[in-house]
Amino acid sequence: MVPDSFLSAQQQIQIPKKSAKIPQGRNVYMGRQIAQTMHYTGAPWLIRENRENEERCSLMLANLNIKTGMTICDLGCGNGFYSLQLAKMVGPDGMILAVDVQPQMLHLLRARMEAEAIENVTPILGSFHNPHLPKNSVDYILMVDVYHELSHPEVMLKYMRDSLKEGGQIVLLEYREEDPKVPIKPLHKMSKKQILKEYTANGFKLTQEFDKLPWQHMMFFGKDPDWKEPVQQ
Ligand SMILES: C[S@@+](CC[C@H](N)C(=O)[O-])C[C@H]1O[C@@H](n2cnc3c(N)ncnc32)[C@H](O)[C@@H]1O
Repeated sequence: MVPDSFLSAQQQIQIPKKSAKIPQGRNVYMGRQIAQTMHYTGAPWLIRENRENEERCSLMLANLNIKTGMTICDLGCGNGFYSLQLAKMVGPDGMILAVDVQPQMLHLLRARMEAEAIENVTPILGSFHNPHLPKNSVDYILMVDVYHELSHPEVMLKYMRDSLKEGGQIVLLEYREEDPKVPIKPLHKMSKKQILKEYTANGFKLTQEFDKLPWQHMMFFGKDPDWKEPVQQ
């Protein structure tokens, strides 16, 4: 186990100066039960050898339409399975903002960055209700197998909206609930219908889909310009 004190000494991990009070999280959102955060001791599963065969990760990356120089947030990056690959794809003029709430995951990510001499990844320690992203600066926010774990989905989506550049998009990957052959626990799957319900309610509209991954939905969401934020009572 990695002590937090070690991590806070790492300059590249951006830790917010003031820790704002975390509002109460949800167990259920719009009829969906929220899953527990995957613990960092499960990190080896994220870089398992047969992940490519099972999930066709390279096909997913090929369909992201990444251009060099992009700024991409890998939200819920874990130990950086995608962050490191994205870093190579955006090139030295691009940047990956790798956000996770578990410092131990960011420590594993940093070790992998160092082993591969990758410098264009900025690890960011997020909090459960705030990814601590800069405003109007991100081209894509990629969430692979993360959104269904968010304990504060509405407020997280609001911060994500604020961080996207004009024309920026969220790319969401979730295991398909509709398909009983996908060998993942039901709590860790989502249906397309549920995803659309939650994203449209929070000011996003579906802009593109890729339906050829073996296990996951891959859905692109842009900001809906006609959406009005509900007035707080
Ligand atoms: C199942 S792992 C997926 C990791 C990575 N996306 C991948 O596909 O290899 C989910 C990750 O999301 C992170 N997570 C959960 N809630 C989060 C939040 N509110 N903000 C940032 N990360 C979060 C967890 O700590 C965990 O590392």
